Amino acid sequence: MKKTYENIERILISKDELSQRVKELGAQITKDFEGEEVIVVGVLKGSVLFMTDLIREIDLPMDIDFMVVSSYEGSTVSSGNVKIIKDVNIDVAGKNVIIVEDIIDSGRTMHSLKELFEVRDCKVFKICTLLDKKERRKIEIDADYVGFDVPNEFVVGYGLDYDGKYRNLEDIGVLKPEIYTK
Ligand code: IMP
Ligand code: MG
Repeated sequence: MKKTYENIERILISKDELSQRVKELGAQITKDFEGEEVIVVGVLKGSVLFMTDLIREIDLPMDIDFMVVSSYEGSTVSSGNVKIIKDVNIDVAGKNVIIVEDIIDSGRTMHSLKELFEVRDCKVFKICTLLDKKERRKIEIDADYVGFDVPNEFVVGYGLDYDGKYRNLEDIGVLKPEIYTK
């Protein structure tokens, strides 16, 4: 076991399960947008590993862009104020936009981003999230593409962090609660 795994209680989703599901999502998006071009927008930083794997499974002409939003500051509970730190550079009016997120928790981030893109007159706006923690939803929001539903536990790895760490794990694991309660 790698040293970076020492604070992981258990593996929730293995690297093989991740790559299989990412293939399926890519194939589904390819089918849904047949004959179209897409703009894939990743929400930094958590979505980076998922996004780079996902776009290689999407067989469509595309461009990519990134946003930085903030809601979490070294805490495992969403603070609820979503701030746009970095916006997309591409003009998305009339374009098919797929926003890629690591996890939907309270739903506040995606709810705000959806409202933001609605006024930008995209042709189509879709949400693709690797993980969905539906139990914790505070605002109603449904993703169009969901990799995995996850239980109400704090998960890290494959891009997801706790206090900036664990993004480089190949699998998704549940963090030992003593790490964030101490
Ligand atoms: P929401 O606005 O509450 O839906 O928050 C979504 C953001 O919270 C995600 O993009 C993550 O950055 C963070 N987040 C929520 N749950 C987890 C988790 O279990 N592990 C790591 N990050 C999480
Ligand atoms: Mg995030």
